[in-house]
Amino acid sequence: MTRAIVLPAEGPAAVQDVDDDFLAGEHSPGGHADTPRGVLVDVEWSSLNYKDGMAITGDKGVARIRPLIPGIDLVGTVARGDAAGRFSVGDSVVLNGAGIGETRHGGLAERALVDAASLVELPEDITPRRAAAIGTAGFTAMLSVLRIERDVAPSDGRILVTGSAGGVGSVAILLLSRLGYDVTASTGRPEQADFLRSLGAGDVIDRAELSEAGRPMQKPLWAGAVDSVGSATLANVLAQTSWGGTVTANGLAQGSDLPTTVLPFILRGVTLAGVNSVDAPLALREEAWARLAGDLDFDRLDGLTDEVGLADALTLADEILAGRVRGRTVVDVRR
Ligand SMILES: NC(=O)c1ccc[n+]([C@@H]2O[C@H](COP(=O)([O-])OP(=O)(O)OC[C@H]3O[C@@H](n4cnc5c(N)ncnc54)[C@H](OP(=O)(O)O)[C@@H]3O)[C@@H](O)[C@H]2O)c1
Repeated sequence: MTRAIVLPAEGPAAVQDVDDDFLAGEHSPGGHADTPRGVLVDVEWSSLNYKDGMAITGDKGVARIRPLIPGIDLVGTVARGDAAGRFSVGDSVVLNGAGIGETRHGGLAERALVDAASLVELPEDITPRRAAAIGTAGFTAMLSVLRIERDVAPSDGRILVTGSAGGVGSVAILLLSRLGYDVTASTGRPEQADFLRSLGAGDVIDRAELSEAGRPMQKPLWAGAVDSVGSATLANVLAQTSWGGTVTANGLAQGSDLPTTVLPFILRGVTLAGVNSVDAPLALREEAWARLAGDLDFDRLDGLTDEVGLADALTLADEILAGRVRGRTVVDVRR
């Protein structure tokens, strides 16, 4: 039997024991029976992302099947490899997104049956716990940074990070500052200003400066931005981006709307680049994880990481949705 958080067909999520048939998705509508690409993983760590909060609380936009084991991240050891032999027993692996914790069972369990197509071998320099601390949030931050550095050099000007005390934002600050960018952090939690500076932010601004509808073109302030917030915030960020700048759209913490005009694009050549971690192809996943191994300050990552046991993830779901969780939270699924 496998201990897991289960969001049942009806009622609230709870910790329970499930059998192998359940793990193979046989009790899930449209479930994912075992395939030749299936890899059985002994999970060591998962993590808590905004999306996990949504799944655990039964949000239909994320928990697209029920029953469902939530958890969009997992790090662990291969217990049974795939038929093609890409993975063997004992390999250390990491998986972010690719439908786990949404359309198939995820990482908040002691075991998971996953698809080899998106599974990444864990770089040697990253411990399993740190890989979970990176998780989807850090992986997404790296995808944003890879996109920004294509167009924007550190000498081009300041980079704004919104939602900066959250998971994506805090890892984005770590990465960008290590790469030599001058980072400004936008937050609604002024009490986190020292924390954000300790990650490498040179300046901290109040997110209220960005959250109300503003003029379509504003004074250019940013060479680029990593946005996890969407809505009026993203519209203002675009309006404040200087000529040729790139803004990545990762998230929708304020809203999924985007009340903007074409003016930043046609008058300043601004690029709005979408980031999608869930469906990232394997080559991009491997590139991002290799860069994380080389570019992340792991001592600082440890400093923004909290650790909880499996049942604690249930109670933290509401906290992360309320924007009260700081940095990253790893889940020891065996605790
Ligand atoms: N595209 C992808 O593949 C991908 C991957 C991961 C995450 N995401 C999305 O990216 C966003 C951030 O994810 P996360 O894991 O970093 O979540 P998180 O840890 O909860 O961080 C989100 C942050 O957004 C800010 N925020 C919350 N509510 C807000 C509001 N109403 N207005 C303005 N700012 C608000 C808060 O930062 P402050 O307290 O500092 O203001 C909060 O810490 C989420 O929308 C998530 O769904 C997308």
